[in-house]
Amino acid sequence: MKTLVMATNNAHKLAEIREMLGGEYEILGLADVGCNEDIPETAPTIEGNAEMKARYVLEHYGLDCFSDDTGLEIDALGGEPGVHSARYGGVAHDSERNIDKVLRLMAEVPAGRRTARFRTAIVLLQSGRLHRFEGRVEGRILTERHGTGGFGYDSIFQPVEGDGRTFAQMAGNEKNAISHRGRAVAALVQFIKQQA
Ligand code: IMP
Repeated sequence: MKTLVMATNNAHKLAEIREMLGGEYEILGLADVGCNEDIPETAPTIEGNAEMKARYVLEHYGLDCFSDDTGLEIDALGGEPGVHSARYGGVAHDSERNIDKVLRLMAEVPAGRRTARFRTAIVLLQSGRLHRFEGRVEGRILTERHGTGGFGYDSIFQPVEGDGRTFAQMAGNEKNAISHRGRAVAALVQFIKQQA
């Protein structure tokens, strides 16, 4: 069986990709290859960060690898938080602070100008070649939180394609069917399956 490293220690992401590649590939996480350091993510774009992480794994461990990076792009904030989504509120991975900052900055923004999108970039380094994949979902930023599911900015993001609910009000499989990451991962999986 071929081996592919996903440059993450997020158990949820690893389980999702293992399920989708069902038995065709052995998917290893960073801990599985003995990588316990924080891989630098200092590029100015999500594409750059995804590439940085994938190259790090190839250079240090010599294994084919893919990596994903996601950003929420809010038009009224000039595309912010974008590549800064994880630590927008000042503390890494503190979603409540991140949301508080977005709602504060957008307090005066009228309904018609609250457009936004989630974008996921995936970079695959396989057999010495680089392949890029992207997934995106358009939506609106609400003025307050709705729902308790999901994570990150889910409770203030209302996808255009839905029925008015936020991502935090949807079941996981409903969100994955239209989400940025679901779409990017689907494109990656389709490509990998063609190779097999
Ligand atoms: P990552 O690149 O997957 O680590 O995502 C970076 C940041 O974007 C996360 O820390 C979250 O704040 C946000 N984010 C990523 N994906 C989602 C999502 O599906 N819903 C809400 N927020 C997300």
